[in-house]
Amino acid sequence: MPDESRYVLGTNPAEQQRLREQSLVWAQESSWLLDQIGVQPGWRAIDVGCGPRGILDLLSARVGPTGSVVGLEQNPEHARLAVEFCRQSRLENVTIITADVTSAEAASESFDLVHERAVLVNVPDPRAILKAMIRLAKPGAVVACDDIDQSTRITEPSNPAWDLLNGLILEQWRRSGADPFFARRLWGLMRQAEFEDVRVRLRAPEFWDIDHPRRFQILTFVDNLQEAMVAGGLITHQELVRQKSALQRHLEDPDAIAISGLGYQVWARKPT
Ligand SMILES: C[S@@+](CC[C@H](N)C(=O)[O-])C[C@H]1O[C@@H](n2cnc3c(N)ncnc32)[C@H](O)[C@@H]1O
Repeated sequence: MPDESRYVLGTNPAEQQRLREQSLVWAQESSWLLDQIGVQPGWRAIDVGCGPRGILDLLSARVGPTGSVVGLEQNPEHARLAVEFCRQSRLENVTIITADVTSAEAASESFDLVHERAVLVNVPDPRAILKAMIRLAKPGAVVACDDIDQSTRITEPSNPAWDLLNGLILEQWRRSGADPFFARRLWGLMRQAEFEDVRVRLRAPEFWDIDHPRRFQILTFVDNLQEAMVAGGLITHQELVRQKSALQRHLEDPDAIAISGLGYQVWARKPT
């Protein structure tokens, strides 16, 4: 049975919309990664924790009609949206499986590419997911992670509501057992797992000016985590409402800027 409580940001329409936007904003960076990996027609690829969309369309186009793609997603609502996305986009070589990758029955050593994006930073046991990904890869296949280190999220000019709420997000993240800076550990973990040819690229943080679709993402994070923050005594409900309005006003100021977290793309070959 999928355990949805293990995904820090939970699921609600705003989170689903955030994930769909993320796929559009990150499509170019993900395409770059797939080009580096050299995904070939006929490959069997899996997008672990694909959410409502992930990179299913990018993989589908690259592996072509002779290849196949699995979108593996533990959250039934995200999986339903992924099925809908594939149907609407006519991605006929993609199958969605609703399962937790750490207990999924997908055959071991059956994929040429095992990919995840923005999953490991959001879960209490990223190492277990990485281990499951390694199991799914054929010997010599590529395992690719594209994940986030939240340390570069800043605003300018500085703003007390941003500082407070960003600090509470990171604290709530830790309390749920997840590591907000996990991505920086990936390169070392892959080397220790004796991967061959471990490669890394840092994605430039996004510059969120007033027109950027993800500028208000920090408020979506707060919405997703606020119940837990209040229940855990990090802040009162009344104070949270006050700080959220102050942050909203700050982000509506066209002269204020925001910078996203830092993306790490780390990929390597499983030893043969
Ligand atoms: C931040 S979302 C990223 C979605 C997508 N990869 C993207 O880049 O847009 C993380 C997704 O991973 C899923 N997830 C978390 N742990 C998982 C697990 N153990 N097995 C399968 N899916 C998982 C969550 O349900 C969520 O949909």
